[in-house]
Amino acid sequence: MQQNLPCNLKIGLIDSGVGGFSILNSFLHRSLPGNSHYYYIADSGHLPYGLKSDRYIYQRMLALTQYLLTLKIDVLVIACNTATAVSVDLLRTRYPELPIIGVEPAIKPAAEMTKTMHIAVAATESTLKSQRLSNLVNRYASHCTLHPITGTKWVDLVESGEYLDSSVVDKILAKSLEVVWDYPVDQLILGCTHFPFLTEAIIRHIPERVSLINPARSIVAQCDQRLSEIGKLASLDSNNQTEGIEPQVHLTLMTTGNMDNFKQQVSTLVSPHYHQLRLQRIDC
Ligand code: DGL
Repeated sequence: MQQNLPCNLKIGLIDSGVGGFSILNSFLHRSLPGNSHYYYIADSGHLPYGLKSDRYIYQRMLALTQYLLTLKIDVLVIACNTATAVSVDLLRTRYPELPIIGVEPAIKPAAEMTKTMHIAVAATESTLKSQRLSNLVNRYASHCTLHPITGTKWVDLVESGEYLDSSVVDKILAKSLEVVWDYPVDQLILGCTHFPFLTEAIIRHIPERVSLINPARSIVAQCDQRLSEIGKLASLDSNNQTEGIEPQVHLTLMTTGNMDNFKQQVSTLVSPHYHQLRLQRIDC
């Protein structure tokens, strides 16, 4: 599609697949004063990250970040808990000029909100065994009992589109979520960006006392905060509002995997709040 409008802000997002669309959708649901362009990479040719080694994930993140830098992004959002756990510190050291926001399990808010001191966190194997998660727990939730739920099959449900088939989903979720019935858990952290797409189904399998914590909105807030610190949001304001131009949202959604599959996933998972859409397969 043609792209002849000036773009004031370029936001790059990376996930192993389509999970990061849950973060992208949160960006699309709020309006920015100026034009914005989102460049999203689904590393579908290399997923799941949750079962890969730290070294493998870091190498992928390095290659994909370098690719996004050639597109001149202003900020990078690692829309993947697994990739954040393994690579955010290394990437920040390597690219000190690039603002990097990483999604990670919302341990702090859960620890603040729990009344029963039992918190469950659903995430990939790699996130659950990461040092970064242990650090978060030691820092904010040492007074709580943490119940890990491995969601490898949950990622598959979303990637394959099987999340739409309630009989398959119900069987898998009922088994994974037994722990929230066995203990007085009152906070369930969605510690993988694929999982918000299972929200309706998860709610069918948890007691009413359990609140679901999805970090998407707080990631958008963190990103906006960072952009205003570096003067990007202010410049959007003056460039556009004074000229009375209606802000435009451009999406370039890229995959390292199968393009037909990706088109199908985009049509069901991405919110329609944008003006221009381009889909692309990249070799990276
Ligand atoms: N969406 C990713 C996350 O937030 C992980 C999915 C995968 O295993 O690739 O952790």
